[in-house]
Amino acid sequence: MTAKSTLMLELDDIQAGALEPRPVPYAGIYQILRLDDRHAGRELLRRLIPYLNSVASFDPKSPVSLAVALSFQGLKALGVPEESLSTFPREFQQGMAARAAELGDVGESAPEHWENPLGSQDVHLVVVGLAPDIARLEAAVSYARDALRDLSGVVPIWRQNVHAAADLRNMFGFADGIGHPAVEGSGIPGTNPYELPLKAGEFVLGYEDETHNISPVPQPEVLGRNGTYAVFRKLHTRVAAFRQYLRQRAKDRGEEELLAAKIVGRWPSGAPLALAPDKDDPELGADPKRNNAFMFGDDPRGLKSPLGSHVRRANPRDSLIIGAPRLHRMIRRGTNYGQPLSPGVLEDDGADRGLLFAFVGAHLDRQFEFVQREWVNDGKFIGAPAEKDPLVSSSDGREFTIPKQPIRCRLKGLPAFVVNRGGEYCFMPGLRALRWLADLDT
Ligand code: HEM
Repeated sequence: MTAKSTLMLELDDIQAGALEPRPVPYAGIYQILRLDDRHAGRELLRRLIPYLNSVASFDPKSPVSLAVALSFQGLKALGVPEESLSTFPREFQQGMAARAAELGDVGESAPEHWENPLGSQDVHLVVVGLAPDIARLEAAVSYARDALRDLSGVVPIWRQNVHAAADLRNMFGFADGIGHPAVEGSGIPGTNPYELPLKAGEFVLGYEDETHNISPVPQPEVLGRNGTYAVFRKLHTRVAAFRQYLRQRAKDRGEEELLAAKIVGRWPSGAPLALAPDKDDPELGADPKRNNAFMFGDDPRGLKSPLGSHVRRANPRDSLIIGAPRLHRMIRRGTNYGQPLSPGVLEDDGADRGLLFAFVGAHLDRQFEFVQREWVNDGKFIGAPAEKDPLVSSSDGREFTIPKQPIRCRLKGLPAFVVNRGGEYCFMPGLRALRWLADLDT
């Protein structure tokens, strides 16, 4: 750890995709490329860089926005020298598949069942492209295809189309992407007025973080500084199983909706149980000034928002828990893939649909991995060691307690509603670092 920094955030160097919220609605693409030839890989970066925006130059009205990130294998494929590679954190060097036990990616979510080529050594470079609609996205994709036609040695190996609707609903029918932390010095506001902005070093490498230190930056400095880590996971959602479970456990439609809200911690509209404990309040859900303006301190037993509900686990705010929530915050850029299951349908139609989960943060270990291990897949921190996240933990047979007066209710035998189909740990370099990578002469 090094000394404190009073430096301003270099917003003209940080990729916009790291910190800027995505303007909704949008159509997007996750494109993975394998770099068979380091010179072609560097040429690809040279061609991409002019299209990348920094936080300072980001224009939310732009027809297309791009972000670029590299896996550890990708940095290797570009010819980054060993003395630099060895300065990246161990979990990044290992990659997501090797961290499966840590992340709870077992059973159906285990790497041997992942979609090819996810989890393989071939995942090198990820380009995320976003546009306000599919027509503009496709126009940009075909332009990129033409621009790269002569570049043999760079092979597109996986593509996932994604989309976010204006009402932010995910495949389970719940508004998502509401809660975002404020990052000190970025000028980008957070969504919870009761949460103080987090130190920039939580989300960008090279700055003071919440521990009042600057964590080690991958070397050389020009490569690591203003970079961050981006995690993506293709999370298949079993929407029919979710609906069936609710139908079996509830006595009527109203109770079904309440049960689902208790599992999530918010109503389908996005209205938080913390502010609307008894029924959905669509006006509240749609109001960005109010829909994240709450803490949990007035609800220590979880009578409104169960301690084990997804959002309370994922961000316990001021709950009395083991641990310090501010050290485990994340920027999320989750987005839908596939088409929703028609309303009311209880049978699985076999279609692949879910959430392309994306995390951004400077600390893979104490942010993404910690949340996944301790908060999603364990219950010790809330005094319920036998419980896991009722929505997103991918194990079968889970339990979930809904505190109520005079007696609490314990749900048993929750089947897995989410299966991980694969993902990767990536490094999202700053713009100067991308130029440094493009200019490597190894
Ligand atoms: C298919 C899987 C998932 C679904 C359907 C899902 C759904 C949701 C929904 C509906 C919300 C509430 C909206 C909001 O606050 O923005 C939410 C919040 C959140 N989720 Fe998830 N989620 C999934 C996976 C995950 C995973 C794997 C993690 C972490 C490892 C995670 C972390 C969070 C966080 C940090 C929040 C914000 C909590 C807050 O600040 O109040 N989610 N999620």
